[in-house]
Amino acid sequence: MSILFTPFTLRGLTIPNRIAMAPMTRNFSPGGVPGADVAEYYRRRAQGGVGLIISEGTVVNRPEARNDQGIPFFHGKDALAGWHDVVDAVHGEGGLFAPQIWHTGLVREQFPNKPRPSTPEGPSGLFRPGEPYGQAMSQKDVIDTIAAFVESARAAAEMGCDAVELHGAHGYLIDQFFWSGTNQRSDEWGGPALPDRMKFAAEIVGAVREAIGDTPLILRISQWNQQDYTRRLAPTPTELEAWTRPLIDAGADMLHCSQRRFWEPEFPEIDGENGLNFAGWVKKLTGVPTMSVGSVGLSDDFFGAFKDQKTEANTDLTQLERRIEAGEFDMIAVGRALIANPDWVGKVREGRLAELSGYRSEMLQELA
Ligand SMILES: Cc1cc2nc3c(=O)[nH]c(=O)nc-3n(C[C@H](O)[C@H](O)[C@H](O)COP(=O)(O)O)c2cc1C
Repeated sequence: MSILFTPFTLRGLTIPNRIAMAPMTRNFSPGGVPGADVAEYYRRRAQGGVGLIISEGTVVNRPEARNDQGIPFFHGKDALAGWHDVVDAVHGEGGLFAPQIWHTGLVREQFPNKPRPSTPEGPSGLFRPGEPYGQAMSQKDVIDTIAAFVESARAAAEMGCDAVELHGAHGYLIDQFFWSGTNQRSDEWGGPALPDRMKFAAEIVGAVREAIGDTPLILRISQWNQQDYTRRLAPTPTELEAWTRPLIDAGADMLHCSQRRFWEPEFPEIDGENGLNFAGWVKKLTGVPTMSVGSVGLSDDFFGAFKDQKTEANTDLTQLERRIEAGEFDMIAVGRALIANPDWVGKVREGRLAELSGYRSEMLQELA
């Protein structure tokens, strides 16, 4: 049997296989409230056999935490009731569900013709170096934002979500604190070296850990961000350990290490072109479970996902299996292939690979 279909236990939660649905923003929650169509969308992926469904990014209770009007809230009576229905739908199929808790910080709105009602917030009022946007957060803003993450995570645990993921990747708020390009603060939330800029994330992880009891806590991180695709927050293993260790010490159970192509080596100068990937290095350096991601089941990576992309299905999963078998990382997230094929996992398990479809950007137009 393929290693992909063996269980994995994370902080007491047994996930029936190694495949997670990657978090993917879909913008189908008008007024921030996920409706019956959203519940049906996730139910189909649970029915299709996904081991752990990670939701689209869903935002905390802060002004301008989202940068598009269709992004769901993870706070407030109506949105939480909507998520409760999603959890019931996923559980009804025997699936497991984790919301991805998010604050978009100083990433601009996707539709500039729809002005935001108030000024967005971030560490230093910068979208990227030399590009001012929004406002710098006050001490009170920072404290209140940490509390807002805790409030959402607690609500998730209380409604029976099986795990919680925090979005610390890709240039959104938590990542904006990590990066010197967007965090130029000289107070306790910033400083010249990466360890000086860790406090915001570590405080969130620690406070969320306390609030959710034994619910597994996953933190997503990335070397790249959308402000600079070539960015590497931690260019050496020493720096990578200095970045990730405090997050684990604060209470993260698993790091979800985002990259574009899961087979790409993180430090080829050390272990060669077939060396460990990002998740592999984080696991090696820290010993914690990791999740990888990037172009599984498709012929092209996701940077073109939003505009006119047409990818073919790639049905050779042997390299993925080999890496999990070797213990390089523990789970794999699958994104676009699960938009194109709600039953991707079941088809792979049954060897019906010829039936898998490629992904096309136009699939984002509807929630199928
Ligand atoms: C439509 C779309 C929306 C996405 N939204 C999010 C998101 O809300 N949060 C996040 O962490 N990543 C998001 N991503 C990145 C995916 O989680 C994933 O890392 C990326 O698509 C690579 O996986 P894939 O090659 O299997 O698609 C999104 C990707 C796509 C295609």
